[in-house]
Amino acid sequence: MRDNNYHSVKPLLDNKRPQVYIETYGCQMNVNDSEVVLSILQKAGYSLCPNIEDANLILVNTCSIRDNAEQRILGRLDVFRLEKKKRTNVKVGILGCMAERLKDELLSNPAVDIVAGPDSYRDLPRLIASLSSGEKQINTILSQEETYADISPVRMDQNGVSAYISIMRGCNNVCSYCVVPYVRGAERSRDPKSIIHEAKELFKNGYKEINLLGQNVDSYLWVDPSNPTKKVNFAQLLELVALISPKMRVRFSTSHPKDMGNGVLYTMAMYPNICNHIHLPVQSGSNAMLEKMNRKYTREGYLERVAKIHEILPDCSITTDVIAGFCSETDRDHQDTISLFKEVRFDNAFMFQYSERPNTKAARKFKDDIPPEVKTARLNEIIALQNAISLENNQKTIGQKYEVLIEGASKRSDEELMGRIPQNKACVFPAKGHKAGEYVTVRINSCTSATLIGEIIEEEHKSLLDKIL
Ligand code: SAH
Ligand code: SF4
Ligand code: F3S
Repeated sequence: MRDNNYHSVKPLLDNKRPQVYIETYGCQMNVNDSEVVLSILQKAGYSLCPNIEDANLILVNTCSIRDNAEQRILGRLDVFRLEKKKRTNVKVGILGCMAERLKDELLSNPAVDIVAGPDSYRDLPRLIASLSSGEKQINTILSQEETYADISPVRMDQNGVSAYISIMRGCNNVCSYCVVPYVRGAERSRDPKSIIHEAKELFKNGYKEINLLGQNVDSYLWVDPSNPTKKVNFAQLLELVALISPKMRVRFSTSHPKDMGNGVLYTMAMYPNICNHIHLPVQSGSNAMLEKMNRKYTREGYLERVAKIHEILPDCSITTDVIAGFCSETDRDHQDTISLFKEVRFDNAFMFQYSERPNTKAARKFKDDIPPEVKTARLNEIIALQNAISLENNQKTIGQKYEVLIEGASKRSDEELMGRIPQNKACVFPAKGHKAGEYVTVRINSCTSATLIGEIIEEEHKSLLDKIL
């Protein structure tokens, strides 16, 4: 299945090769896509370049999820234009979701030479070579099949501990506010054999944590094309990945409340290395808004899923996404979101104001009629509430001991390390000679709303998993 030219998981840095600089915006899937792009370009003779000033090729992997994400990237194009003025041998390629959404409009920008959508990365070497004709190049064809299953992403982050694996692409849900189905195309699941192979290679290369990615992991379904009665669903895939080694943690994102079944929860309960954390975007606490958003669950249905998580996985953390100020949202609808947040008490949340995306169902059918200052006020109310809840939830960890996988030095100091507890909370503690990739047991002494602060319990620093084995 895989070619013999198997790449290392680390970037090859060679200044004799043409240099590519890659900038990434958007979600974790985009980060992983940039790693796929680097793999394709390394094979085509390029080497990763850490500085934009030395690059022959600048690639920007873009995001369209909200208007401010796009504006930020459009602002960067001015910088690239200057770079091209300074040095004539620089080419600029726009990849990802904005490339797919804006197509020729982006190509006509003087800063841009190549526009390549999320399913056309295999074509990049040809697009780059074709620039010698003097013509700009574009490929934004979306695919029904492309999963880049045979390409080994080259990991750019260098933390060497935690890695993303995309298990599917695209999305078949049509949440009315969301641009993703238009820019990423139809949902398709990746061959589980290639996923397991990639996870095993990462483990062999010293990685200790795998994060399985999809817009809606619960609808993962692989049907063997040569024998359609052979199928693998998400709970089964999760189990296969967890079985690779009890010393490799498994995480996943994103779960959809309408599809997250109990099977996944029972699988999580069975394998201690599947981390007890579920990211379960709610978007709104109001049934009227959920209906209009086309989320296909109700507030009650969502709360039932949360209750089931607590029943099957008592120490599981739950995080969420929420949108404030969606079309026609009343104060009452907003208060429904506030009351849901008080009821669920999420461990963390990504909180956004509604941003109308052109051509989505919401843009076509509903008016974006909540004034910006009302959107901001509602968002701020949700943020203030969630910050208080995050702090209170974190305070409950004080005095407790957790297994932490060390990711590296903390932002503040080299004397301190940062890692995560299974519930995905970040934790900092004095290094005491330990290093990235080790499991340690940490006792929590204090916290903020974002971080746990603790110390390694020396006599217990052997992993719980080591003890079981
Ligand atoms: N597939 C994931 C979410 C992907 S996008 C899911 O279904 O949950 C990440 C988050 O961005 C969404 O959960 C939503 O909260 C937010 N988002 C998406 N479109 C948005 C828009 N038009 N305006 C504001 N926030 C949006
Ligand atoms: Fe967008 Fe909905 Fe798909 Fe998530 S599930 S990517 S919010 S359409
Ligand atoms: Fe953005 Fe595309 Fe991800 S729109 S959030 S980069 S799928």
